[in-house]
Amino acid sequence: MTTAPAASGHIPVLMEQVLQSIRPIAGEVFVDCTAGRGGHAAEIAKRMAPGGTVVLFDLDAANLRYATSRVAAESGLTPIPIHGSFTSVGRELEARALRADLLLADLGFASNQMDDPSRGMSFSHDAPLDMRLNQSMGQTAAQFVERLSERDLAEILQQLGEEPFARRIASKIVDSRARTPITTTTQLADLVREAYGSRARTSRMHPATRTFMALRIAVNDELGALRAFLEQLGVAAVRASEGAPTWLNPQARVAVIGFHSLEDRMVKRLFVELSKRSIIRLEGKQPIVASDAELAENPRARSAKLRTAMVGRPD
Ligand SMILES: C[S@@+](CC[C@H](N)C(=O)[O-])C[C@H]1O[C@@H](n2cnc3c(N)ncnc32)[C@H](O)[C@@H]1O
Repeated sequence: MTTAPAASGHIPVLMEQVLQSIRPIAGEVFVDCTAGRGGHAAEIAKRMAPGGTVVLFDLDAANLRYATSRVAAESGLTPIPIHGSFTSVGRELEARALRADLLLADLGFASNQMDDPSRGMSFSHDAPLDMRLNQSMGQTAAQFVERLSERDLAEILQQLGEEPFARRIASKIVDSRARTPITTTTQLADLVREAYGSRARTSRMHPATRTFMALRIAVNDELGALRAFLEQLGVAAVRASEGAPTWLNPQARVAVIGFHSLEDRMVKRLFVELSKRSIIRLEGKQPIVASDAELAENPRARSAKLRTAMVGRPD
């Protein structure tokens, strides 16, 4: 199967593995918590037609619109689009009296967002320092960088970016912003390069890579959102396994793809705990990662880790 829909601007990762673990069946309720460009959702929806229900979440209004029309065009189903965070998945499904059979969360950002200069997520384009996935709310990265103390900045760069020069970069930012506000991607990337000094020449990646990743995660509170999502998932899985009413069906299949070690650690912790309590069945102890063939086609899959589970006691 080709995973490269030319026009969508994003190649879905681990497609075959997601399909194998989710195992869509006609007529089921599928919730894609991170619709993105609809790559995964369209393939899953096709396998549920003609009678399934597809619910799509995304913080990014444009991506949600794109995914909704793509899924409709490719599967013939009419998705229910929800412009908002997957942190409200339980509430939104309960409000519609829906129970998910299939739940997918493919975390982080889509390639089209990174490649869009107006989003300010990448140092490859000179652009306003925004980085928000939902551009209709919240603080931009420029406001973050303006507002945070040197200590908080250093902590974010260190914890979320594992940036070895976190303190040096934070100090540079604070010095510089006292003279001129840091409002563009190029300003920030140049400051990081200065903080690296001569080490910038020997750095394997662009010196600003870790800083940009850390700020994006912080601006969108990506780990906070994942924590809230996993908490709800845990509660719903317990209820579903007891046969109590909730937004998740007994036997629901869940797939979460993380791109950051902290994300994967949080998912692993919940899945292992629930599996020890016989509330879910794990498909394997180790996360599923991309094959060499996929990596050759899509280098972004390099850090992807898929964890999958089925609600219910082991047989
Ligand atoms: C990796 S992409 C998903 C790609 C998608 N699986 C596909 O095949 O096209 C992640 C998407 O999740 C969205 N997103 C990130 N955090 C979110 C959250 N807390 N709630 C809803 N959507 C979120 C992003 O805006 C982005 O469009």
